[in-house]
Amino acid sequence: MKKRILITGGAGFVGSHLCERLLKEGNEVFCLDNYFTGDKQNVAHLVAHPDFELIRHDITQPYLIEVDEIYNLACPASPPHYQYNAIKTIKTSVLGAINVLGLAKRTRAKVLQASTSEVYGDPAVHPQTEAYWGNVNPIGIRSCYDEGKRCAETLFMDYHRMNQVRIKIIRIFNTYGPRMNPNDGRVVSNFIVQALHNQDITIYGDGSQTRSFQYVDDLIEGMIRLMNTADTVTGPINIGNPGEFTMLELAEKIIRLTASKSKIIYQPLPQDDPKQRCPDISLAKKELDWQPKIPLEEGLLRTIAYFKSLSQ
Ligand SMILES: NC(=O)c1ccc[n+]([C@@H]2O[C@H](COP(=O)([O-])OP(=O)(O)OC[C@H]3O[C@@H](n4cnc5c(N)ncnc54)[C@H](O)[C@@H]3O)[C@@H](O)[C@H]2O)c1
Repeated sequence: MKKRILITGGAGFVGSHLCERLLKEGNEVFCLDNYFTGDKQNVAHLVAHPDFELIRHDITQPYLIEVDEIYNLACPASPPHYQYNAIKTIKTSVLGAINVLGLAKRTRAKVLQASTSEVYGDPAVHPQTEAYWGNVNPIGIRSCYDEGKRCAETLFMDYHRMNQVRIKIIRIFNTYGPRMNPNDGRVVSNFIVQALHNQDITIYGDGSQTRSFQYVDDLIEGMIRLMNTADTVTGPINIGNPGEFTMLELAEKIIRLTASKSKIIYQPLPQDDPKQRCPDISLAKKELDWQPKIPLEEGLLRTIAYFKSLSQ
């Protein structure tokens, strides 16, 4: 059945892939964005589609529309962008959550919150299960994002408990793929852009810190599966790729795949940078019958092809 679906932050990296996929499945998609970190260009190929609508709006202000489902993705997601205006970042997370939850309450829409592995902070347990409450600095330079997302999760649970709003919370781990913003300082896009220009590749710290990287198509599959679960399934559910790589391994892989002449250089680790982060995805396997399918090399090759196309 054709559904009416609102995607806040739909013109961003993840949102644009979600718009594309939900349109392909025959739905009517309303893409809401204030273009802070997103770009109309990310959804330009969808604009002519009769079931696609682009809405310029800031989610810190209420928005009224009749829909069946809401995916709440609006929020700058990379440290330089969310730290650019930290107060605005918290407002986007918290007021944005209140506004989409109010809308879901009125329209009886299902609403999915794009939460983050950052709610685990610098984790003291490894890998992280959903039962872990996290180790987050409430007053640091990353807190506007981490605590904003934690408060949004609280709001989602309280609207569910108090108003029976049908909610889903997904905790997204590092995701990469085409349409990542090349200037947002995320490690995969940074390394690829540096490698394609044969510039030095910057590693913060000694390069032994590990990260897991999930290709965007795997994330989109997980999001849609969670949205389609029974109302009793609220999450939070981790969605990420548990395969761990050190920063040094990632840099070396990208240099090889791009046949780059780049050299690796080292700089001090930024404040509150987690040393290790890796999802436990047992719950996603059990509740969603989901696990990541795209191996790192394949995803990197697709992403490299995208960044190459930008410079042509
Ligand atoms: N990409 C990842 O690795 C990752 C990891 C964890 C969580 N997430 C979450 O997924 C969501 C999407 O992330 P992304 O990587 O696509 O980032 P992105 O920056 O590309 O997308 C965020 C979108 O939200 C829009 N936006 C920001 N503030 C807004 C506001 N006040 N009103 C309306 N629109 C606003 C931006 O313009 C952008 O289009 C975010 O909520 C992010 O926190 C992403």
